[in-house]
Amino acid sequence: MELAERIRQVAEEAERMLGTCEDLEELEALRVRYLGRKGALTLLLREIGKLPPEERPIAGRAGSEAKEKLEGLFRECREVLRRTQARKEALDVTLPGRRPPLGKRHPLTQIMDEIVDIFRGMGFEVVEGPEIETEYHNFDALNTPPDHPARDLHDTFYVEGGRLLRTHTSPVQIRVMESRRPPLRVLSPGRCYRNDTPDATHSPIFHQVEGLYVDRDVSFADLKGVIATFARQMFGPDVKVRFRPDFFPFTEPSAEYSFSCVFCGGKGCRVCKYTGWIEISGAGMVDPEVFKNVGYDPEEYIGFAFGMGVERLAMLKYGITDIRLFLENDLRFLEQF
Ligand code: FA5
Ligand code: MG
Repeated sequence: MELAERIRQVAEEAERMLGTCEDLEELEALRVRYLGRKGALTLLLREIGKLPPEERPIAGRAGSEAKEKLEGLFRECREVLRRTQARKEALDVTLPGRRPPLGKRHPLTQIMDEIVDIFRGMGFEVVEGPEIETEYHNFDALNTPPDHPARDLHDTFYVEGGRLLRTHTSPVQIRVMESRRPPLRVLSPGRCYRNDTPDATHSPIFHQVEGLYVDRDVSFADLKGVIATFARQMFGPDVKVRFRPDFFPFTEPSAEYSFSCVFCGGKGCRVCKYTGWIEISGAGMVDPEVFKNVGYDPEEYIGFAFGMGVERLAMLKYGITDIRLFLENDLRFLEQF
């Protein structure tokens, strides 16, 4: 028989045997048997060189065709067997289950829940108000006159019908007082909006928590006690609280309050800009004008109100230096909380 014919026969035989291979080891043994250094096909190919020159081209072509085809088939077979094997392994019922990645609460939600828990412990009840507010509730009823710069288009997002996205949670004070009588001890966490250019400490969307306490006998000392208690429960017994005079149209007197910097213990560092203090928000005694607007007699009732910037508290608590991280939905950031 001519060499070319023998080559084709051996190749066909190898091809038939391929169909019987059940795993990668069997396949490799078969490959060695035909294509290895002493494999059946390899030995035949070596004989081509011994043929008389005029017979070599025919046998040569048959040889390289057979070799190429077989090598291709072996490759395909190896891929198929590898995949089957991987599937079998994936179906190993004795393996422990794979835990699906669990979601969790956003760090801001965690902080807000923590804030709410602390104030609940002091007898505050959680209430909510709408994010789309009337100008009246967001400004007028809070004694903020029409020409106040905070009402400017540049500071505030207006929507159709003269409504606006609330710029703070203080309008919830009005809504609660409009619908209830003292004594009141309420807390209102929620989202706020301002037309602020984003930077490391400002975001057009942010969160505040509003507190309101109204009764017959409430003093500024109660306000300080409530804020100090909150600060210690949130940041530990050593944190100090500072009140300084400020102005808000809806409180009188008004204050800005700060906590001692939790990073340097008040000694001064980059985070607190070497002041030792970090400003949290504003507070004060409810202005008598506000009581009149909701139909409370300012001679009978007195109260205090405070706000809190939630992002600011979270940044302080977790050592975050850029507020924008909260909104980027980067799991590498979010997974750390
Ligand atoms: C107020 O919004 C008052 N309603 C606070 C208040 C409540 C005073 C009750 C008196 C009585 P102010 O505009 O300063 O105040 O904002 C309070 C806090 O909100 C700021 O200290 C800051 O922590 C946070 N805040 C304000 N604007 C932004 C912003 N663009 N991005 C992130 N946080 C902000
Ligand atoms: Mg301010």
